[in-house]
Amino acid sequence: LPGEMFGTARRNSAGCDLTDIAVREPLLRRLAELERKRWTAGEGSGARTEVRSPFDHALLVGEVIETVPADLDAMLSRAAGSQGAWDAIGGEARARLLDRTADLFEAHREEFYSLCIREAGKSLPDAVLEVREAVDFLRYYAAEGRRLAQPVHLPGPTGELNELRHHGRGVWTCISPWNFPLAIFTGPVAAALAAGNSAIAKPAEQTPLIGALAVRLMHEAGIPADVVQLAVGNGRIGAALVSHRLTSGVAFTGSTAVARAINRSLAEREGPIVPLIAETGGQNAMIVDSSALPEQVTRDVVASAFQSAGQRCSALRVLFVQDDVADTMLTMIRGAMEALSIGDPRLPTTDVGPVIDGEAKASLDAHVAVLRAAGQVLAELPLPTNNGSFVAPVIAELPSLASLKDEHFGPILHVIRWKSGEIDKVIDQINATGFGLTLGLQSRIDTVAEHVARRARVGNLYINRNQIGAVVESQPFGGEGLSGTGPKAGGPHYVARFATERVTCIDT
Ligand code: NAD
Ligand code: ALA
Repeated sequence: LPGEMFGTARRNSAGCDLTDIAVREPLLRRLAELERKRWTAGEGSGARTEVRSPFDHALLVGEVIETVPADLDAMLSRAAGSQGAWDAIGGEARARLLDRTADLFEAHREEFYSLCIREAGKSLPDAVLEVREAVDFLRYYAAEGRRLAQPVHLPGPTGELNELRHHGRGVWTCISPWNFPLAIFTGPVAAALAAGNSAIAKPAEQTPLIGALAVRLMHEAGIPADVVQLAVGNGRIGAALVSHRLTSGVAFTGSTAVARAINRSLAEREGPIVPLIAETGGQNAMIVDSSALPEQVTRDVVASAFQSAGQRCSALRVLFVQDDVADTMLTMIRGAMEALSIGDPRLPTTDVGPVIDGEAKASLDAHVAVLRAAGQVLAELPLPTNNGSFVAPVIAELPSLASLKDEHFGPILHVIRWKSGEIDKVIDQINATGFGLTLGLQSRIDTVAEHVARRARVGNLYINRNQIGAVVESQPFGGEGLSGTGPKAGGPHYVARFATERVTCIDT
């Protein structure tokens, strides 16, 4: 482990064992109590809006006060003004504050679970994973910051000393999506801070309360208030941050379209040329051949396509199944899908919760209507009848990938059959989408696995398992092409990208 080199061995967070009734029952009671709590994000004179739960629009979670664009100048000036001192305290001191933040996140995990369920509509198991991943990012990037803070001595002729050091670049703008409202909100901010930068953190407009609690705890841990600041609002605030002259780097996770807009804005901006890290969407496939184990395929397809209501960038969208086993596989997958329970994410028995909001539901419903009109829907679950944004899991069969241009960010599984001997055509179709995030392969033939791994242009390939839930440090995560720029989140090159390198050469 990187941390072991500096005597700070790191282990990923243990989370919370929901199968243990002695853990689960008190937790459920505490979550019921926390339902009465009303949260706030933001401050000042900006517009105020109520935050309501995606699974029941009558449930009030809190209130948001939008950051006023006119305040951004002052925020960025404070962030830029504090960055030098933050860089100067060194990697070890910064890492200690990030580790302390991780401890506080764990101490407040029940509040985060409550908010992940009520503000983001996550199931309880997903909420537990969310907090674990955020804590892992904090501790891993702290360890990486310690490693990067060590000067690197470089070769040279006798009488010459060459040394490379990493420093913060300035102020990073970190813009995050709603689907990992704590983990992906926290990860880029932690990396920016670990590398000696200050950061402005902009959560998605759908999940500001979770971001606000995270920043509050960063301050409580001792990270100065000017070094990490919260900017609350929609894409307009994000765009203003990106184009601001004091922004020294942008870490963005979200849709490919917005990444393109940010790239254009950075290109046209006056002032220094700054880096963009963009982690975006996918058109993720799984290839199943006739040697695959049907039970394993069923379990992994259902998890990959429907867990988190399909609202993971890594989620399975297109299942390519070899035609001689397709009927058997589809019967089993359909049976497993029909056993899923869809509804209130507060119930521990719920498998599929809501989608994030009415806009997401409308867009997914429109796509399903097209599939239905074309006679392509094989199976769909009934919708719950409550007052929330629900989209029932659907399986639809397509003749080819040609009709699927966009990422449909919900519980919709598309299936395409392929003929024996034509696996290269399948991989080429997947590559031709231009996305390259996750790919699943189910095969018990080693040479097939090697072949697919060589030919497929994806960031994360999962063989004989589900294709979601990358673990920090074990499966560094991120795509290529339309799916992102890299470096991979939770990987050994991530923190370095937030830093600038300076070399000193001394003639002794
Ligand atoms: P989105 O692109 O709509 O919004 C993401 C963030 O960008 C939000 O905070 C939003 O306010 C902000 N934003 C919007 N317009 C902006 C602009 N012009 N300038 C600056 N900021 C702007 O995405 P979303 O709906 O929140 O998230 C879902 C998307 O994120 C999916 O495409 C999913 O695949 C992707 N995602 C990718 C990864 C990954 O690691 N590759 C992880 C999670 C989600
Ligand atoms: N890291 C998240 C996953 O792998 C996006 O599902």
